[in-house]
Amino acid sequence: MVLNFKETYEINDLTIPKNIDYISDIHGDYYFITHTISIDDIKNNDIENFFNLIRLNSFNQDNKILIISGDISENNELTIKILNVLKKFYKYIVFIIGNHDIFITNRIEEDDYENNSLLKFEELKRKCKDLENIYLLDGGIITINGVSIGGTMGWYDGSYIYKYKNQYYQYNDKRINKDWLTYIDGRKIRGIKMFNEYFEYELEKLKYLVSNSNIVTTHFMPTNNQKHFNPMYLQKIYESMNQYFCFNGIDKLEDEINEKLKHWIYGHSHDGIDYEYKNIRVVNNCIGSWVESNMGKNSKFKEIIID
Ligand SMILES: [Fe+2]
Repeated sequence: MVLNFKETYEINDLTIPKNIDYISDIHGDYYFITHTISIDDIKNNDIENFFNLIRLNSFNQDNKILIISGDISENNELTIKILNVLKKFYKYIVFIIGNHDIFITNRIEEDDYENNSLLKFEELKRKCKDLENIYLLDGGIITINGVSIGGTMGWYDGSYIYKYKNQYYQYNDKRINKDWLTYIDGRKIRGIKMFNEYFEYELEKLKYLVSNSNIVTTHFMPTNNQKHFNPMYLQKIYESMNQYFCFNGIDKLEDEINEKLKHWIYGHSHDGIDYEYKNIRVVNNCIGSWVESNMGKNSKFKEIIID
């Protein structure tokens, strides 16, 4: 099922544990696509074995609800395949897209999606429409056993670079956009002219979600404060990248945030830091590349404990 902006859905299923697992940045392309010609050649067993390993590392293997905070893969067919395999472990899967999910990765995709990332997203929505107990959130909220989970991708807003005025970087929107188009997502996110344009689409959805959810998930980090970054990424060589990892969310949305919002799950930062900010627990659990995850051996499903 797909839950668009302000769409809601409720499930009551007292047969399952309350606690909720979360993960993100599976990047299935890195793990499963390399040695195959078509997605059909990827064996479900290989995907299952990979997640089984991660499941065995996890603290609690009984949980039946999984939230995935974006970047499942860069291929819609593979994403569906991964979701269907994960259904062997989880009864309910709730997910959002990340930037990689809507990358236009080759000339065939340029034709198929008219060089427009949003059309790739629309195709994924069509493919998810009839999947049983799998929910793609694009500004909608699903409530499972009384816990409401709101989700949308979010996007970076450029606020980080202006806040910290990096001395090594001459910044203005035009200059940032040149870099974005040359080195960053702008190479593969198509149909959007400015690096921060997508944020404008996301802001209204976020206002609604933070007013009405117990848990919000976005792909990008919802604060732009340096203290919430891994100190490694404050070094000169990385620092100009940080703006593409976060947005001014919790501060900017302060008037809309309902006190029942207790958790914010984000992805994208493969070496993220969990933190508490303004009474919201902000958590991250990326699988990342095969080096980062040691082919899954270093990864686990983390859980949110529901009182
Ligand atoms: Fe990402």
